Amino acid sequence: MADLDDIRDGDNFGLNTPADTSSFYLKGMNSASWGIKNRMSRIFNRKSGRTVMLAFDHGFLMGPTSGLERIDLNIAPLAEEADCLMGCRGMLRTSIPAENTKPICLRTDTGTTILTEMNHNVLISEIDAISMNVSAMAAMLAIGDADTEAITVANFSRLVDIGNKYSIPVMGVTAVGKDMARDSRYFGLASRVCAENGASIVKTYYTEGFENVVAACPVPVVIAGGKKLPELEALELCYNAIQCGASGVDMGRNVFQSEAPLAMMKAVKEVVHNGATPAEGFDLFNTISNEA
Ligand code: R5P
Repeated sequence: MADLDDIRDGDNFGLNTPADTSSFYLKGMNSASWGIKNRMSRIFNRKSGRTVMLAFDHGFLMGPTSGLERIDLNIAPLAEEADCLMGCRGMLRTSIPAENTKPICLRTDTGTTILTEMNHNVLISEIDAISMNVSAMAAMLAIGDADTEAITVANFSRLVDIGNKYSIPVMGVTAVGKDMARDSRYFGLASRVCAENGASIVKTYYTEGFENVVAACPVPVVIAGGKKLPELEALELCYNAIQCGASGVDMGRNVFQSEAPLAMMKAVKEVVHNGATPAEGFDLFNTISNEA
């Protein structure tokens, strides 16, 4: 067991000194391969340096949850508004038209459902990721979970090896087990573990002190939306994360469980890419949903 007594929390995050992006517009990519940079450029808007990823991988854990009953009806019509689609191979193949030209972030680990405790997730074959022409691969790391931390870190490292071989960026998804603290200390640690293990993108959760989480993570950080919130609150979450230096969102329920998912996508994009305030985003949401 590591000695936890002498771990001092970091307190010098250099918040006023941005990471060097002089040779590529996204942080942490200076030494990445041409292929990784090219794929990252498909996911992250060149002008804003940010992304609005639409996450609909929830079904592999929770089945046909609200808003994801029919991916072909619920998600496919939103694809045009997303910067990137994040889902599992079965739903992508069956329910997203192959004519889709939006980049895909493939959820690459599987093996857990909500019917059991978090268990020993495994990775799908890279052959499938390559055959689906994906722009990124994602896998979860259960940092702090005594039973599964090691296997998810091992999975993740293997995925990064594969990603580096084929120049496919890998996104680390920080899990939140029920016993894990949900503060900047925990998310900062979990995000950093993803980056230390070779992630090109880290997905985590917004929390107070998020600027330190972002500053200590040398690659772009995107936030998950979490449980459905009222639209204005969800837009505040996006806004606050962006103000703290996040590179965008990988959002699911707060879009596809909204009463007006398309309007919500457009409002989130306005906040993430164009600097709209939550109130401005909410106005846009109301205007578009009232027109529909
Ligand atoms: C979590 O493991 C999944 O990757 C979800 O895609 C992620 O949590 C984002 O979805 P939501 O915004 O609904 O939290």
